[in-house]
Amino acid sequence: MAIAETTVREIALEQPASIRVFEQLGIDYCCGGRKPLAQACAEHALNLDHVLQTIAEASAENGEVPRNWEDESLSALCRHIAARHHGYIRSELPRLEMLMQKVVSRHGNTQPELAAIQSILLPFGRELLEHLDKEEMVLFPYISNLQPEDGICRPLGCFGSVRHPIERMMAEHDGAGEAMARMRELSSGFTAPDWACPTYRGLYQALREFERDLHQHVHLENNILFPRAIQLEQTIPE
Ligand SMILES: [Fe+2]
Ligand SMILES: [Fe+2]
Repeated sequence: MAIAETTVREIALEQPASIRVFEQLGIDYCCGGRKPLAQACAEHALNLDHVLQTIAEASAENGEVPRNWEDESLSALCRHIAARHHGYIRSELPRLEMLMQKVVSRHGNTQPELAAIQSILLPFGRELLEHLDKEEMVLFPYISNLQPEDGICRPLGCFGSVRHPIERMMAEHDGAGEAMARMRELSSGFTAPDWACPTYRGLYQALREFERDLHQHVHLENNILFPRAIQLEQTIPE
């Protein structure tokens, strides 16, 4: 069957990345999603080829090749983490919370684990946003200044050694990882029941992607950025 004749709902189930595209375009992929994509596009005066292209691009983003950060400057790595991972968290968290609320209100009465996941997700999100601000306002400027791209070191930091804020950030990473693992456990590995609607599946898919991104993000900080910053600080004369 040609993809234009496939229903919006089927596309949402088979290619979860399309859900974000449908949301942005205002195409109903849930209760009103049992119509061919071509028909949905016609009703919204959207160009079918353009919509298909956008879905293909959104799906391809998941297969991106990672860059080797061992060879790049710490400033470039800080900028990458802030733009890519912090930016993703800031845009994705409100969407996750909205999906979570929708699914809890529709299915919370028969699926008690949903409210339990929500009670973890909300404080987890708040703490994560505070964590990003601390990194961007205090730690990343300090680390970038250890290896300034213009060669001029500016006086920054009042924490003695970079080890202190790094230890604090790593403890917060552990806390975030534990919360994520607890949500995974409660949702049986983010696996929706067979009967679940696209919103329910979309929520679990989004949580799975969020976890994957968090793992990549924490890996860049814990295993590359932080050890290199500690090492570099030791080479700078007092
Ligand atoms: Fe971060
Ligand atoms: Fe962090």
